[in-house]
Amino acid sequence: MKASGNRLTREQARELLAKLDSAIAGSRGRACRDAMVKFLNTTIPTYSWVGIYAVQGKDLVLDAWAGPAATEHTRIPIGKGVCGFAAKAGRTEIVSDVSKDPRYLQCFMSTKSEIVVPITGQGAVIGEIDIDSDQLDAFSSLDREFLEAVAKKASNVWA
Ligand code: SME
Repeated sequence: MKASGNRLTREQARELLAKLDSAIAGSRGRACRDAMVKFLNTTIPTYSWVGIYAVQGKDLVLDAWAGPAATEHTRIPIGKGVCGFAAKAGRTEIVSDVSKDPRYLQCFMSTKSEIVVPITGQGAVIGEIDIDSDQLDAFSSLDREFLEAVAKKASNVWA
């Protein structure tokens, strides 16, 4: 199933979680994160670029990504950018129009909106999922719910 055109529906989100389970079955750590970013990027048309960053000391370090191009932001200090803000606050950030958010660090000219979802383990932020969309206002509270469930799965097999 491909989530069509615009925003996710609840039913699509449920189906996608089941398909993701099959896509990552038996994998752990980096291999699992590679499978996750690939799955999200190829299955959901509005998820134009998908990355997972891992916390290393005071920085976020790019660990796995899928999309048309590499980003220059492979290391982001916690507190900097939308990514660093979400990691510091420990909560999901949705930016519906990146051109209006002064925290935004640009990776791609084509990006219009972004969601960053922290991955927590034993009460601390250990990483995060970062998704750029070429569509304005691409992320709803359903994407948040869906991606928070994905983040939990990533946390369960993090090491
Ligand atoms: N836009 C992010 C930086 C990471 S790139 O989107 C891959 C930010 O503002 O933190």
